[in-house]
Amino acid sequence: MTRDGIRIHDPADFAGMHAAGKLAAEILDEIAPQVFPGQSTAELDRLIEAHVTRAGATSATIGYKGYKHASCISVNHVVCHGIPGDKKLKDGDILNIDVTVIVDGWFGDSSRMYVAGKLPRKAERLIQITHDALMVGIEAVKPGNTFGDIGHAIQTFVEGHRMSVVRDFCGHGLGRVFHAPPNVLHYGRPGTASVLEEGMFFTIEPMVNLGRPETKVLADDWTAVTRDKSLSAQFEHSIGVTANGFEIFTLSPAGKFHPTYET
Ligand code: MF3
Ligand code: CO
Ligand code: CO
Repeated sequence: MTRDGIRIHDPADFAGMHAAGKLAAEILDEIAPQVFPGQSTAELDRLIEAHVTRAGATSATIGYKGYKHASCISVNHVVCHGIPGDKKLKDGDILNIDVTVIVDGWFGDSSRMYVAGKLPRKAERLIQITHDALMVGIEAVKPGNTFGDIGHAIQTFVEGHRMSVVRDFCGHGLGRVFHAPPNVLHYGRPGTASVLEEGMFFTIEPMVNLGRPETKVLADDWTAVTRDKSLSAQFEHSIGVTANGFEIFTLSPAGKFHPTYET
């Protein structure tokens, strides 16, 4: 069954998403101590791929539209879709690690922020606001609210802190597929777009910039960066709409969604 082209899942489907989301979250928990100055993002990706394999699961990103890695790792002014590589992290670099796994056919998609070494003060503020923006969006998830309500809550919160919401990338429906309707915008007007119904599964994954919202994609056709080179952060959860609100499928078993680092 669908509504506005958005699949309405059965109560039993929540268990599938819960298992997939849990693995994504465990991987993001376990990678945290591996993030330090001198570490390469390619090595982080190797560790992530090994964890997926060990768990008997599949990476959703390897082979997706020609992408070759088990994670996207987006450092500093990279907004999203950063490609793991041999360049080493430096003290004070902030990075988003985004992992999507397939468990028994269900997709679990989540990302968080990490820091190599000491967290710079303005990066700390950006990361806190971005995390809180995701949570403000999630709080708007309940039957009868609209996707516009989610976007509006996020945009109002972020802009109220004099930061900007990226428009060029959005969240998405998921379930037994990686990217499905709707596009979950992180900005918008209350009461607009589709009405949320119990059984809808989607991600919310706001990208927030310290400077202007505009992005550009580099010549590798993946890496999205801020046009003004300002710092960018992102957090992502996979979520299901329940009778009274929401279930977060990608909750951290270790309670390390944010912060992932010692403060
Ligand atoms: N996980 C990303 C998302 O949140 C998508 C990554 S696609 C890739 O939707 F090919 F770049 F890995
Ligand atoms: Co996603
Ligand atoms: Co993702």
